Amino acid sequence: MPGEYILDVRDLVVRFRVKGRGGFTEALKGVSLGVRRGDSYGIVGGETGSGKSTLAKTILGINRPTSGSIYLEGREIDYSSSKDVSLARRNIGIVFQDPVGSLNPREPVYRIIRAGLINSDVPKDRYEERIVEISRQVGGIPQGKLWSYPGQLSGGEKQRVSIARALVAPKKILILDEPTSSLDVSIQAEILNLLRDLRRSMSITFIYISHDINVIRFMCNRVSVLYYGKVVECGGRRRPCSRHRPTRTPGCSPGACWAYRGLRYRHQTALQAGM
Ligand SMILES: Nc1ncnc2c1ncn2[C@@H]1O[C@H](COP(=O)(O)OP(=O)(O)OP(=O)(O)O)[C@@H](O)[C@H]1O
Ligand SMILES: [Mg+2]
Repeated sequence: MPGEYILDVRDLVVRFRVKGRGGFTEALKGVSLGVRRGDSYGIVGGETGSGKSTLAKTILGINRPTSGSIYLEGREIDYSSSKDVSLARRNIGIVFQDPVGSLNPREPVYRIIRAGLINSDVPKDRYEERIVEISRQVGGIPQGKLWSYPGQLSGGEKQRVSIARALVAPKKILILDEPTSSLDVSIQAEILNLLRDLRRSMSITFIYISHDINVIRFMCNRVSVLYYGKVVECGGRRRPCSRHRPTRTPGCSPGACWAYRGLRYRHQTALQAGM
C-alpha cells in the first residue's frame, strides 16, 4: 500500500567490483523491507559480511544501488541526483559501527557535532544553542568536554558524540549500525537505554543493526534477518522465525531462517557456558 512505510526498500541489489580479479561481489541480492513510522526495526545478521553495513550505507547514498528502489515517505530516492541524496541525509541520520573510525581525531567534539548541522534547516545563529542542547540530551558530554578531542574520550563518550552528531539536526529515521558492539557490556547497557529514551522523546523511527539477537529483542518491535545479502522478514521480535515461511516471501532465502535460529542457539549456548 503506497504511503504505508516511511522507508520502503524494494529488490535492492548492491554489487562491488573486486580489484584485480575483474569480477564483482554481490553484497545485497534483492533485499526488500518496509519500515513503518515509529518502528524500531531490527536488522540482524550473525555472519560478518552479510551486508548489514552495505544496506545502511546504500540507504544514505554512501554506496550506490546497482538495482532496486528505495522510497522515503512514498517518494523514490534518485541516487544519481545530489539534491535527492542530500534530502535523504537531511531526513535519515546514522551512527556508525566504529566510533573511533567515524570521528575525526583532529576535530574537537564541538566541531564534530556541528558537522551534523551543515545543510540542515537549523539556522546558523541557533547552532551553538542546539549543540549544547543535544550534548545534554545524550548525557555524558559536559560543556567542558565540548572542546576535547576524540582521543581524550572514553568509548562510551565517543559513541555519545556520534549519536549527538546524528541527531543534532531533527531526523525522521536514525540508522544505528551496531552502535554498541565495540563497547564494554556495562557501557552497552547505558547506551541502549539512552537510545530507547531518545527514540521515545524525539519520536524517531529506528533501524537498528546488530548481530546480537538479545540487543535486537530489547530495542526492536520488528525484525528481519540478513543472511549473505538476502533478507527474510520475521515479524514481531518475539515470534519465532520457524512460524514464518521464508520461501514464500519474494527475495527471501530459506537459509536466513536457519541463520536466525542459529543465532538464538549460539546465544543460549554462550549463556549456558557462562560467557
Ligand atoms: N566498498 C566496498 N568495496 C568492495 N566490497 C565491499 C565494500 N563494502 C562492503 N563490501 C563487501 O560486501 C560484503 C558485505 O559487507 P558489509 O560490511 O555490508 O557486511 P556486514 O554485515 O556489515 O559485516 P560486519 O558484521 O562485519 O559489520 C562483504 O563481502 C564486504 O567485503
Ligand atoms: Mg557492518
